[in-house]
Amino acid sequence: MAGDVYERVMDLARRRGFVWPTSEAYGAVAGFIDYGPLGAMMKRRIEDTWRNFFVIREGFYEIECPTIGQEAIYVASGHVKGFTDKMFQCPHCGEFFRADHVVENGGHCEHAAALDEESLARELAEIPCPVCNETIGEVTVFGFSLMFRTSIGPGSQRTGYLRPETAQGIFTDFARLLRFYRDKLPFGVTQIGKSYRNEISPRQGMIRLREFTQAEAEIFVHPDRKEHPDFDRYADYRMPLLGYPAQLAGTGATEMSMAEAVRSGTVANEYVAYYLALTHEFLMRVGISPDRLRFRQHLPDERAHYAEDCWDAECLSDRFGWVETVGIADRTDYDLRAHASHSGEPFTVFIQYPEPIRRTETRVVPRMGALGPRFRGSAKAIAEAIAATDPASIPGDGGFVVTVGGNAIEIGPELYDVREVEVEVQGEEVMPHVIEPSYGIDRILYSILEHSFGEEQLEDGSRTVLHLPPAIAPIQVAVFPLMSRDGMDGLALEIVRELKSSGLMAEYDDSGAIGRRYRRQDEIGTPFAVTVDYDSLEDGTVTLRDRDTMRQVRLPRSRLALTCIELCTGRLRFNDLE
Ligand code: GLY
Repeated sequence: MAGDVYERVMDLARRRGFVWPTSEAYGAVAGFIDYGPLGAMMKRRIEDTWRNFFVIREGFYEIECPTIGQEAIYVASGHVKGFTDKMFQCPHCGEFFRADHVVENGGHCEHAAALDEESLARELAEIPCPVCNETIGEVTVFGFSLMFRTSIGPGSQRTGYLRPETAQGIFTDFARLLRFYRDKLPFGVTQIGKSYRNEISPRQGMIRLREFTQAEAEIFVHPDRKEHPDFDRYADYRMPLLGYPAQLAGTGATEMSMAEAVRSGTVANEYVAYYLALTHEFLMRVGISPDRLRFRQHLPDERAHYAEDCWDAECLSDRFGWVETVGIADRTDYDLRAHASHSGEPFTVFIQYPEPIRRTETRVVPRMGALGPRFRGSAKAIAEAIAATDPASIPGDGGFVVTVGGNAIEIGPELYDVREVEVEVQGEEVMPHVIEPSYGIDRILYSILEHSFGEEQLEDGSRTVLHLPPAIAPIQVAVFPLMSRDGMDGLALEIVRELKSSGLMAEYDDSGAIGRRYRRQDEIGTPFAVTVDYDSLEDGTVTLRDRDTMRQVRLPRSRLALTCIELCTGRLRFNDLE
C-alpha cells in the first residue's frame, strides 16, 4: 500500500471513525481535531486506565476546574510574561514559523529551543524557507504568546485566558485541597481536561494541537522528604534511562533499576523515579511498544522555568521521530511561592514536630508595667500586637506602629524590649514542593495507533490490524451469526444484549462473508469475536476468536460474558482457554 505509516494510520483513523479534521464543511483549522465514535471511546478508555493508576491506586482524587482562568492566575504563574515560542515571518512568502523547529529541521542544531532570538536569527539566515524554499536571509525572531486571550463578561472589563495547563487550577485550590486531605503531606490531586496553546504553525496532525487533553497529577510533598512512601513497589523496576550527561556525551540510554537511578544521582529523587516507572508501566498497559519508548532527561537549558528535574517519556513515531508524550517534573515550590506572593495567601502547611522543641529566639517583649497604665482596657491587645512584631522590622530609632482595632498606635522604645527568649515551638509552616507527571492524552492515543498498526500477509490474503490491548479497544466483542437465518441471527442478538448488560461494548454484524467481518473488526482493533453457528443452536456453544492469533475456541454460551470480562481486564489470557 502506498504512503508511509503515518498516512496509512491516519487514513484508517479517518475512514473508520477514530479521528478526523474538525469542521470540514467550512475547511478544517490546523491544530484542532474531532474524535469520531471509535476515537472518543478509545480516548475514554485510556483516560479510565489512567484513573485506575492515579486516582484509584495512588489515591489522588480528581478535581475539575474551569478551562478559562482569570488573568491574575497566569500573571502569577509566569505564563503571561514567559509562555512564548520564538517566531519569525519568512520575508519572501510571508508564512509564520516556529524558529527553533525550522533550525532543528534544517539540521543546524538538535535542541534549538534553548537558543536565544539572535542565535536563532543567525542560524535561520542560511536555511531555506520550508514553504517557499527561498534562503531565509536576514530575519527578526520574536516571542509569540501561546496563550489564548479572551474577555470575561460584557464590556471586555476582565481579561481571561484559556488554560495552557490543568495544573494551575490545582495550585490555586491548594488551601481547600490541603484541608480536604486533613492538613497532611504528602497528598496528590489529579485533573483530566482540555488545555489550549495557540501554536504558531501546527503541521503535525495529532502531535501538535491547539486544543488538547492533559491528564495531570500534582503531588505535594515536604521539600526535605522526597523519599516516596511506596518506593519499594518500583525500587527493582528496570527501564532504559537517557540522562542528560549521556546526551551531551552522545552515548545511549542505560537500563537500570529505579533504586540504582536514585542512588547514582541519575534521577533527582525517589518521587521522580517512582513516577518514571509508573509511567513506563502505564504506557505499556495502554499499548505503547516498549522498544519504541524511551525516557529522556531535559538538558539544563531545556527545562521549563519552574522545573528542577524533568524527564520526558518519548514515543517513537515513523513520521515524527521521538515525540514527547509525558513530562515528569519536580516543580519545586515555584508555583505555590508565586501564587503566595501574588495573592497574599499563605500556600503553606503547618508541620507539627513529633515533640515540641525549645529554642532561643529574638523576640519583641512588651513591657506590661508601662502598657497597662497608658492603654488600660486595650493594653492586652496592644501587647499581643507588639509581641507579634518581627524584631528585624523595627527601625534603628526604635519606634514602630501597630494596628489594633483599626487604630494605628505608635509604640515607643519605652514600651518594649528586644531580647533573646527561650520558646517552645510546636512545628513550622512549610511550603510544599510539587512533583508533576503530566500526560498528553492525544499524543499517547496517536502513538498507540501507530505502534499497534500492522499489515499482515495471511494464507488467504492480507489484513490490516490494530493490536490494541483489550482494555483500550473501542469495541471489545464482535458478535456474528454465521448466517442471518434459522435462528442464528436471533441468538447472536441475544448474546449482544447479554454482553452489553455485563458492561462490555459489543457489536452485532451480519453483513457480508464471515472473513470480511473479521477483517473489519481486526482493522479497528476489536480483540474478540463470537460466532454463532448451527452447533450453537444444537448445543448452546459458540466460537470465540482471538484477534492477534486468529485462533478460536468453543465454549458454552453461559460462560461467554464472564470469560470476555476476564480477557478484557487481563485476568485471563486467550491461550489459557485453549
Ligand atoms: N503541566 C505541564 C505542562 O503543561 O507542560
